[in-house]
Amino acid sequence: MSLVLGIDIGGSGVKAATVDTVKGEMVSDRHRIVTPTPATPDAVADVARQLAEYHEWTGPVGIGFPGVVQNGVIRTAANLDDSWLDVDGDALFSKTIGCDVTMINDADAAGLAEIRYGAGLGVRGTVILLTLGTGIGSAVFSDGKLVANTEFGHLELDGKIAEARASSRVKDEKDLSFKKWGGEVEDVLREIEKLFWPELFILGGGISKNFDGFSEYLDKVRTPVVPAQMLNKAGIVGAALACSPS
Ligand code: BGC
Repeated sequence: MSLVLGIDIGGSGVKAATVDTVKGEMVSDRHRIVTPTPATPDAVADVARQLAEYHEWTGPVGIGFPGVVQNGVIRTAANLDDSWLDVDGDALFSKTIGCDVTMINDADAAGLAEIRYGAGLGVRGTVILLTLGTGIGSAVFSDGKLVANTEFGHLELDGKIAEARASSRVKDEKDLSFKKWGGEVEDVLREIEKLFWPELFILGGGISKNFDGFSEYLDKVRTPVVPAQMLNKAGIVGAALACSPS
């Protein structure tokens, strides 16, 4: 058994649990602390410290972050706070928590969980996971290997970025029906498949549990589309996998 504390940083909550990275399972309860406002690096790092303390943790920590993370350095933070840009996240969190921290993009984390233990298990070729939440995150796999930091949520369609059309936040804020919103998701998937020709799309994020409510509106997508299987575990389990990414 190889244990890692997985932490998932989100726009509304920061969640953590201990993960067995061999089985891809959480082995503790999941503790959540509300994301501080403003969500500055120091404030969020302190919340991560409190979560590690809650779990009495001293081992390795993997953290999923809602933005581009290159070699531990935060490059974008569209839905958090601009003060994150170019912050060395690995260094800041390692120092604040007092543990060895590895950061990874949140959708890449969820993708790792799905490809190893969920809906993408054993699928060869190109597999693309989209997380539909506050924003839209993406993870691309080629024969099971992650191509990190893709940002399909920022793909522009008809002058508007994908996450401003088809995230679940947009559905809630505009009170869109599954039909209307499903049509937006369909447009995004069709644009991506035109460019990448994947074998499989996996849709994650909280809304994926309602997959049956909108899958019929994705009928013009030629690639098979399936819901994520790890559901709300993917973010935390995948974050822990950042410490053993291959
Ligand atoms: C960010 C991505 C992130 C996604 C989901 C987007 O706005 O640019 O990096 O994965 O939101 O949190």
